[in-house]
Amino acid sequence: MATALCPGSFDPVTYGHIDIIERTARHFDDVIVAVIRNPQKTKSLFTLEERQTMLAEATSHLDNISIEFFKGLLVEFAHEHGAEAIVKGLRAVSDFDYELQMAQMNQKLSGIDTFFISTSPQYSFLSSSLVRDVAQFGGDVSGMVPPRVAARLAKRFGTHHSTGGGT
Ligand code: PNS
Repeated sequence: MATALCPGSFDPVTYGHIDIIERTARHFDDVIVAVIRNPQKTKSLFTLEERQTMLAEATSHLDNISIEFFKGLLVEFAHEHGAEAIVKGLRAVSDFDYELQMAQMNQKLSGIDTFFISTSPQYSFLSSSLVRDVAQFGGDVSGMVPPRVAARLAKRFGTHHSTGGGT
């Protein structure tokens, strides 16, 4: 049984993440979506439980996915769960430097390999942080996140939940 990890903050999950998770699920027997508990970046918008719920809703059509939290080193989590691969999406060259560095560090630490999937072009501009920004100011995020995520964003920011149309 080959198990892969799809790690990230998922604050919140976007269609870009879902694309990578779906494609990973086609190549591995099991996929663990590993949600980091202690992101070093910004303060989280959604709680871990909210992020897990949104991920579970967004991946309910896949039967080989589980969603778990981790803290500390990703490679430790991988080892504990018998995962033999980390899978990441690459959006653009700007992702490459840092992702390559992390992949090489993780390989050095534990021997685990990282596989990169090129993001589908329609999602290459997408990131959770930009989605948060757009949603905060009432922009239409309906083509970027699943409807339930868009609804949660609208509720969190007290903005109108636009259903799209671009006008
Ligand atoms: O969605 P993000 O915030 O880009 O995800 C980054 C994440 C969680 C994949 C990365 O920060 C990570 O793997 N953190 C775990 C800590 C760790 O193992 N650090 C050493 C990696 S070289």
